[in-house]
Amino acid sequence: MCGIVGYIGPKEAMPLLMEGLNKLSYRGYDSAGVAILENQELQVVKKKGKVAVLAGEITKYTFGGKIGIAHTRWATHGEPSDRNSHPHADCSGKIAVVHNGIIENYSSLKKHLQEKGHKFASETDSEVIAHLIEVHYKGNLEEAVRQAVLRMIGAFAIVVISKDHPNQLIVARQDCPLVIGINDNEIFIASDIPVLLEHTQKFLFLDSGEMAALSVGDVRISTFNGNRVQKLPQIINWEQGKIEKAGYEHFMLKEIEEQPRVVRDTLRGRLLAGGLVELEDFALPEDYLSQIKRIYMLACGTAYHAGLIGEHIFEDLLRIPVEVDLASEFRYRDPILDENTLVIAISQSGETADTLAGIKEAKAKGAKVIAITNVIGSSITREADHTIYTRAGAEIAVASTKAFIAQQIVMFLIALRLSQHAGSIAGGVLHEIAQALHDLPVQIQSILDNHQPIRDLAKHLAQQNPCGHYKYNDFFFLGRGLDEPIAREGALKLREISYIHAAAYAAGELKHGNIALLTSQTPVIVLLTQERIREKMISNIMEVIAREAPVMAVAYEDDNEIASIVPPFSGLSSNVMRIPRTISWLAPILATIPLQLLAYYSGLERGCDVDQPRNLAKSVTVE
Ligand code: M6R
Repeated sequence: MCGIVGYIGPKEAMPLLMEGLNKLSYRGYDSAGVAILENQELQVVKKKGKVAVLAGEITKYTFGGKIGIAHTRWATHGEPSDRNSHPHADCSGKIAVVHNGIIENYSSLKKHLQEKGHKFASETDSEVIAHLIEVHYKGNLEEAVRQAVLRMIGAFAIVVISKDHPNQLIVARQDCPLVIGINDNEIFIASDIPVLLEHTQKFLFLDSGEMAALSVGDVRISTFNGNRVQKLPQIINWEQGKIEKAGYEHFMLKEIEEQPRVVRDTLRGRLLAGGLVELEDFALPEDYLSQIKRIYMLACGTAYHAGLIGEHIFEDLLRIPVEVDLASEFRYRDPILDENTLVIAISQSGETADTLAGIKEAKAKGAKVIAITNVIGSSITREADHTIYTRAGAEIAVASTKAFIAQQIVMFLIALRLSQHAGSIAGGVLHEIAQALHDLPVQIQSILDNHQPIRDLAKHLAQQNPCGHYKYNDFFFLGRGLDEPIAREGALKLREISYIHAAAYAAGELKHGNIALLTSQTPVIVLLTQERIREKMISNIMEVIAREAPVMAVAYEDDNEIASIVPPFSGLSSNVMRIPRTISWLAPILATIPLQLLAYYSGLERGCDVDQPRNLAKSVTVE
């Protein structure tokens, strides 16, 4: 939610800041702005709309300054508009601030500041920061920012620039991401590591509650309370982190296509001969493993669906009760956990505010927390006891695809590692699982080698009535067992990419009310990968067909029965999206791929902005 960038160095700041904003725009794209300092003048340009709109606007001016800050916004307080765009300035126009997060006590701060005569130019919570700094500024910008952050409640990452300090930027973070990249003679600031990988591999990470005064050759880190902190830069050598489309029209398609590589990388060095698993950061002592009585999965959105799959896998392989919770609900319902509870928190970005808050809650109750994340150095890695990385590489499209596949792989590896300790899986089964995991990349590739039938389905589903309205506007996704979370994921992908209303149901629930919605205009996508409950699922499909709803299926290549049950749309050869056969625990991985493609092509057919859907942002750092 919101991306922030900063630069000080020998180069012109504007091109670097704009490059940073372009790369960060997946974090929010309601408006964008920059502030550049040159000759004691702060030039601020900000515009409603995507970064491209700002790029058009700045061509009207010249900027030579070598220090500046920039922001791309996902609106929380105040509508997307020019005046609510960042940077925000104080009354004197000397101080400018960019902010990611939410200032929860902004209303009382604003009232107090207004009473003191401060004039506000926007409806945002963020603007109070600039005025608070102004109040406390007595010639020392670092101290003024310190006094301001001490009065702010909420989550924030900020970068502050001031006319009076032409060689300095001040940054501060509390529960929101911010990284500092350093070279010999320049300093970069960004919300994410990948934004800066073109420029440096040397990074400083502030902990929550820390701030830094930055000028070339002088980096001073301290806690909000003023205690100095010594930190060594870390080298991030993360080839896969680079943000580039590599010839693809959209990041989403590129990321879908990367999935065979993602599976290989996520397994590399972790799955050993005979199905043994070694996880480099899995440092839980063996005697603790014997004490685990319960497992909690904690996540949001797509990562939550990975948790739902994990529930099946962990319970099957370990016979330990597993509960999966939406992180946003978990923290407010006083969950029952103790030191014998293992919490697995899943987050692609590692920055999702709800998930981070859930982890704090779990740790406060004595549970141990393993994080599964994709982003090196993200906040979750500092909050959790242990971190296992997904190695998917930077995921830029707002819709999560490759990270979801990698999350499932990591969960499977953790389940195998725990069952290794418990001795809960027979050797033969272990070999079968290992073989199936090894086969996955080639199997995923075989699905990706044949997009056309799925593209044809998406085209058919995007047909319009004579009056120009889409014929199909409500979709159902149905599955049982491990197919049910994939139904949820397929529906979420379709909703966010193509703005089609899509609902997912456990197929057995259809008859308890939801079937009332079915008509010949309600396409239903059924998943049929779980053999144990196949007959029940077929009965549910027949119930749908009897209501004349158009049906499409995801099924195994060798499933000869389904094609005769599900008739093709006119002009198409089949309504069945085929996947190679695998073991039931890994079927969700393969079944996800056609649904990702269906969502992608549906979005394209309906002219949607696939990589940056309306109202969304990649990383949700507000509650
Ligand atoms: O970074 P996280 O995995 O914690 O993000 C969780 C959700 O915000 C995320 O999965 C979201 O639902 C995606 N847009 C789904 O495609």
